[in-house]
Amino acid sequence: MDTEQIRSRLKACGQDHILEACEKLDPARRSALLEQASRLPLDSLRELIDSFVLKGAADEPCTAISPAVVTMPDAALAAELTARGEQVIRDGRVAAFTVAGGQGTRLGWGGPKGTYPATPVSGKPLFRVFAEQIEAASIAWDTPIRWYIMTSEANDSATRSFFADNNWFGLPRTQVMLFPQGMMPCFDRGNGNVLLEAPDRIAMSPDGHGGSIAALHASGALEEMSVLGIDTISYFQVDNPLSSVIDPLFIGLHSDPDRSSGEMSSKMVPKRESAEKVGVFCRVGERTQVIEYSDMPESLMTEVDDDGRLRYDAGNIAIHLLGVEFANRVFEENELPWHRALKKVPCFDLETQSQTTPEFPNGVKLERFIFDALSLVSRPAILEVDRSMEFAPIKNATGQDSPESCRQAQNDLYGDWLASRGVDVTRDGNGHVLADIEISPLSAMTSEQLQPEDLPAAVGSDDRILI
Ligand code: UD1
Repeated sequence: MDTEQIRSRLKACGQDHILEACEKLDPARRSALLEQASRLPLDSLRELIDSFVLKGAADEPCTAISPAVVTMPDAALAAELTARGEQVIRDGRVAAFTVAGGQGTRLGWGGPKGTYPATPVSGKPLFRVFAEQIEAASIAWDTPIRWYIMTSEANDSATRSFFADNNWFGLPRTQVMLFPQGMMPCFDRGNGNVLLEAPDRIAMSPDGHGGSIAALHASGALEEMSVLGIDTISYFQVDNPLSSVIDPLFIGLHSDPDRSSGEMSSKMVPKRESAEKVGVFCRVGERTQVIEYSDMPESLMTEVDDDGRLRYDAGNIAIHLLGVEFANRVFEENELPWHRALKKVPCFDLETQSQTTPEFPNGVKLERFIFDALSLVSRPAILEVDRSMEFAPIKNATGQDSPESCRQAQNDLYGDWLASRGVDVTRDGNGHVLADIEISPLSAMTSEQLQPEDLPAAVGSDDRILI
């Protein structure tokens, strides 16, 4: 695109202020700004501003809502699905996919979140926790499981350095692919204009984990999967060390044509309390959808059924399986909605020609959410899982979903494993394990796999057990 084309396209979508900014710049900085502007989604910018920045169409309240249909397999079905899933894994049809583009601001951690030390005894970073699961699964099912990791512009190089410094956590280098997610401009919440963060630079922010579909495509990952015969993507967030990265039961459910269309399946846990900050799986009309906690009306959030149980309690733990064919379709159709978030965006004020640091949210950031793809699925499977075994995210510095709560969840889980093998485990009055316990998936992926010689005689209050 030449300079004149960029200028006329910016005008066409009402972004004349960028051209005004150009007039104040020397030629080199002017062309840098125009070049950045040329990479904006200019074809759809006006519509994006009108439909999502100024209105927030994706966040309109929904009607015809009812609880999602959830699968809770009994022991016989679980065994059947697990066997099916194991065959799918053994056939090399499954890849692991971590979304790790977020900034970990709430946690107050400077580096990429995956570098956060997450395990109670050896302080393994989250990335190593997943790497060990992938290595253990590759050994167990005798197939090298590919691992795709989505970063963002802000943390891509730090993430790559961390993997290189850690020798790719012992995985063959060719088994791991990192790629950055896309970026979107930030907008003025008043008039919808694209904001500048400096006289010659547009303010940008990551396009949300829903951007992973476009990033999987742009990086060549989807194409590579097709070439390698991978048809199932096991998607999980970087913040939850209890994520079961490759779960045969879940994969078996997803690939059972009687129970799922094989497009997208998700895991849920019953919400801890009505105010828990998780999205909720619901039926909206004929489709399954996640309603984010911030968008859920109070009346629905607290509604209880005749047994006093929350009616809308299917908490989203952000673990999904996506068919590769489905991901390609979602990319082609480009239909995931944009969600608007009001944010404080430091920016350059053209009128005063000065930098401003807003005290109140002045800007709109647009993000896509991966779970919105569920509404495109004809028959999704939503699997209920046990929170204590699968969900202990590290999001906040203190309190719920913090390093401390995650540490306790790991100690309790591995304490249960040891107890199930006859070890006497000391607990406090609330049933929480008092020792620090860590079991690597390379030693055992389930309690049954623990070797008798690895079992301690007993676990006291101050013990630190590493298996
Ligand atoms: C998210 C879900 C919520 C779910 C909860 C479970 C959203 C909007 N909500 O909430 O429904 O119940 O997790 O833990 O996602 N990420 C990127 N790129 C981005 C934005 C995020 O890769 O542009 C990644 C982050 O690295 C992280 C994950 O997505 O791994 C979640 O993002 P976050 O913003 O922390 O979502 P939550 O509010 O915790």
